[in-house]
Amino acid sequence: MSRLKGLLLAGGHGTRLRPLTYTGNKHMLPIANKPMLMYGFDHLRATGITDIGIVLGPLHEGIKDALGDGSKFHVKITYIDQPDPKGIAHAVLISKDFLENEPFIVYLGDNLLKESIPKLAEEFIASKPDAMVVLARVKDPGRFGVVKIEDGKITKLVEKPKQFVSDYALAGVYFFQPSVFPVIETLRPSGRNELEITEAIQGLLQRGGLITFHEVSGWWKDTGRPEDILEANQLVLRDLKSSMRGKLDEGVSVSGSVEIGEGTHVHKGATIRGPAVIGDNSEIGPGAYVGPYTSIGSYVKILGTEIENSIVLDGSIIDCHDRVVDSIIGRNSQIRSNGTQRPSGRRFVVGESTYVSL
Ligand code: TTP
Repeated sequence: MSRLKGLLLAGGHGTRLRPLTYTGNKHMLPIANKPMLMYGFDHLRATGITDIGIVLGPLHEGIKDALGDGSKFHVKITYIDQPDPKGIAHAVLISKDFLENEPFIVYLGDNLLKESIPKLAEEFIASKPDAMVVLARVKDPGRFGVVKIEDGKITKLVEKPKQFVSDYALAGVYFFQPSVFPVIETLRPSGRNELEITEAIQGLLQRGGLITFHEVSGWWKDTGRPEDILEANQLVLRDLKSSMRGKLDEGVSVSGSVEIGEGTHVHKGATIRGPAVIGDNSEIGPGAYVGPYTSIGSYVKILGTEIENSIVLDGSIIDCHDRVVDSIIGRNSQIRSNGTQRPSGRRFVVGESTYVSL
């Protein structure tokens, strides 16, 4: 398996996740308290790949700190800069020297797949098609690259079709032979000014290339929008195993799968209903309620609040008597009730492109 190289994409604009992506790379946003990028990284490692290239965009804080040269994960990481995000096929093109004429996997760093990929890699290596794509059936194919299948064969690929072509979407994991490079080199920027990987595969097909496919057996999530992040969080938390390393006062009510990190204190009278994960050195105050599908980071305080189906990043404080649902709270944010402060009313310091629902 070591012959395959891995290319993990962590560039792009991340516009749909603003304001979270103004100050950090979207791939470092946590899903069940694990950076999104680590899911794809772990899948590549599980495939036995030891040579992994990571494409970085203009904002990539935290990625090199987390992964380093890869030695602590027993792999070799090569970082490839893509200062101007000109598309997935462009990211592949600029990685040509790293890929060195070897077959490779492209894994979109914002995609999460339940199914692991070693079996697919074996299939690809054994059958040697020009490309193998992973497909998932979707309800809204107009948002994805889609693949038309006739008589069990791929006959056409279209990026974000305006009219219905097929409900099979490309699920963010692609296997290629180096034969894709001459095709990418002929691509022109699309309407959204990107070199499209969907067009590259369509080009391969037109040149008589063999494109095989695999339909995902578990779930697949492309986490481009805030609601997708919350859904991915739910999907991952469904498989959570309980683990308690923090301090739980007597009289705390815990049910379902719950993971609580070191140094975290859950006070008397708090209720935690899993699946939910709480990081290290956080505090869940008396009377607070942490409901299903909630991921709370480290150094967070949840005081008196009820929170459910939400993600709270490190260092935030929620101290109010409201119920917070379906929310993503960025790092070091504060949501507090203003108690007796006059004049009464809501007070905000809200960044650009922020969304508040009262
Ligand atoms: P997209 O979700 O298509 O684009 P994006 O991340 O720029 O987000 P938005 O549409 O909200 O602006 O990207 C899919 C994946 O590919 C994601 O993990 C980022 C990565 N990518 C690159 O590495 N380089 C690129 O040039 C592009 C467009 C995406």
